[in-house]
Amino acid sequence: MGIKAVVAGAAGGIGQPLSLLLKTSTLITELSLYDVVNTPGVAADLSHISSPAKVTGYLPKDDGAKAAFKNADLIVIPAGIPRKPGMTRDDLFKINAGIVKGLIEAIAEVAPKAYILIISNPVNSTVPIAAETLKAAGVFDAKRLFGVTTLDIVRAETFVAEIAGKASPQELTVPVIGGHSGETIVPLFSQVEPKVEIPEDKYDALVKRVQFGGDEVVAAKDGAGSATLSMAYAGYRFAEKVLKALNGETGIIEPSYVYLPGVPGGEEIAKETGVDFFSVPIQLGKYGVEKALNPLANITDKEKELLKVAIEGLKGNISKGVTFAQTPA
Ligand code: NAD
Ligand code: LMR
Repeated sequence: MGIKAVVAGAAGGIGQPLSLLLKTSTLITELSLYDVVNTPGVAADLSHISSPAKVTGYLPKDDGAKAAFKNADLIVIPAGIPRKPGMTRDDLFKINAGIVKGLIEAIAEVAPKAYILIISNPVNSTVPIAAETLKAAGVFDAKRLFGVTTLDIVRAETFVAEIAGKASPQELTVPVIGGHSGETIVPLFSQVEPKVEIPEDKYDALVKRVQFGGDEVVAAKDGAGSATLSMAYAGYRFAEKVLKALNGETGIIEPSYVYLPGVPGGEEIAKETGVDFFSVPIQLGKYGVEKALNPLANITDKEKELLKVAIEGLKGNISKGVTFAQTPA
């Protein structure tokens, strides 16, 4: 089957390496790059790579967003500004909320069946904005909307492997649930597969490192932005899983931040947590989210404490996004 994939924000720090990785996928036949700047150059460059995807670049002129998105199967959105030292992800809301809303409005019109993967921060709020915008356009399907939290999982795999002395972090499955910012990020080290022992005296620091891994990169880049290369890897890893599931592969499970009441198995988790948007392991299938898997049954007391704090933070982030989307411009 032919897959049209789009990157919105394709000329950016994440957008360029993510587009490169997508161009290498043999599952994609058409790769459309949209940004407010520089996409003709990025598209020309990538188009010389000898993989099947035909690459096209679009700018806002001549209704470029709609032309880029038209009939897309998969749209990844890393558009918007990144943090500088001293900023929280919520500080990005002012600018990125409007960017995401505008892009989703165009998608609702010309690609209402697309699988939408949102990277733009603050993810805790931009995904609710996307959901509300799609609802207002009458085309919302929660099974097709994903907040990308894979970077938290990638970090957790790396940091746990360091502590557990594993040479290959990818052998580990480390569930990370909740949201994507600071204390809303909840790593479940008790459910790592295969089991690992985290020494008691290292537990708190490890949790903090996963929760605030983004800050490490922001500080090291010293004003030049936030994680781009590790994010491109994580975004591609998640996109590839969605594509493989669409292509008929079964048994694919990966956490993502989704609208729980709209996906099979999600209602129960929404009741238990008290929030509608939450990242949990999801089983992917031909039509997107096949099932949300409840990770809460066997969590430890320490993890319950982390969860409580996360839910409090998430409530505010979610309602801020919903209110923004519902307020007329
Ligand atoms: P960047 O500034 O390098 O790139 C962003 C790109 O978006 C730019 O090329 C810009 O021109 C483009 N853009 C701006 N407005 C646009 C619009 N209306 N339509 C299309 N494109 C538009 O930033 P970056 O480092 O690539 O980060 C992008 C976003 O991803 C930030 O919000 C950042 O916080 C977020 N991020 C999320 C995660 C995550 O785990 N979900 C990880 C890292 C970064
Ligand atoms: C990350 O986790 O690296 C991203 O959300 C970017 C950031 O602002 O830290």
